[in-house]
Amino acid sequence: MAVTINTLREYKQKGEAFSALTSYDATFAQVVSEAGVDVILIGDSLGMVLQGHDSTLPVTMDQMIYHVSSVAKGNRGSLIMADMPFMTYGTTEAALENAAELMRAGAHMVKLEGTDWMTDTISALSERGVPVCAHLGLTPQFVNKFGGYKVQGRDEHAAEMMIEHACELEAAGADVLLLECVPAPLAARITQAVKAPVIGIGAGADTDGQVLVVHDMLGITTGRKPRFVKDFLADTGSVQQAVEAYVKAVRDRSFPAEEHTFKA
Ligand code: KIV
Ligand code: NA
Repeated sequence: MAVTINTLREYKQKGEAFSALTSYDATFAQVVSEAGVDVILIGDSLGMVLQGHDSTLPVTMDQMIYHVSSVAKGNRGSLIMADMPFMTYGTTEAALENAAELMRAGAHMVKLEGTDWMTDTISALSERGVPVCAHLGLTPQFVNKFGGYKVQGRDEHAAEMMIEHACELEAAGADVLLLECVPAPLAARITQAVKAPVIGIGAGADTDGQVLVVHDMLGITTGRKPRFVKDFLADTGSVQQAVEAYVKAVRDRSFPAEEHTFKA
């Protein structure tokens, strides 16, 4: 049976961890989906992973549409989440138009990076039938404001703000939250504070779900390997088995381990 937002809500209610991975093409989408990954993310990380840029900012709507439609063809029942690229949701009007294009290409949900400024836009999308994932913490589209890729929410004020923003975004209509590179105790507090399923990357083992960039979990990271990445291909014989091992490790919460986690 196909995964829907209801499936993710049921996982949260039952306390069962669910998995997500990026895919950018039909072949990976099929492998990932058939291995039992619940959510496929067409991340704007493709700007770095596929295109070789040093940030996600250059990714365009046309490129996202191309990759979403490829993934949709390979998908075998996972929920397809598509990133809205940098500045394509700067106004609510732009967000509605651009989200519609991603949905027409085959997405079931769109993901936006930001904080409380997104509430009106998220309400507008939600009211018109577009499920939204709100991405908080290390939001890579803000790299130039952050001055680098840094763990977020480390001091108590920043942590309180992130909890507040998570609650506001949920109240505005966000169906899923995603936390990137935040201390595990903060991610646990946010996961408890909201009813919406929370997906983490570099956010510890207590979020409702986990996500990784598929290249990273296959050990083909170029450059410095982030702390939260684990190579699942190293101990398995094939891409298929590596993805299955990831699904299992997320489900039994053996991934992420302490070594993949930011404590504070
Ligand atoms: O673009 C992406 O792949 C992402 C994940 C890392 C969460 O946003
Ligand atoms: Na992204």
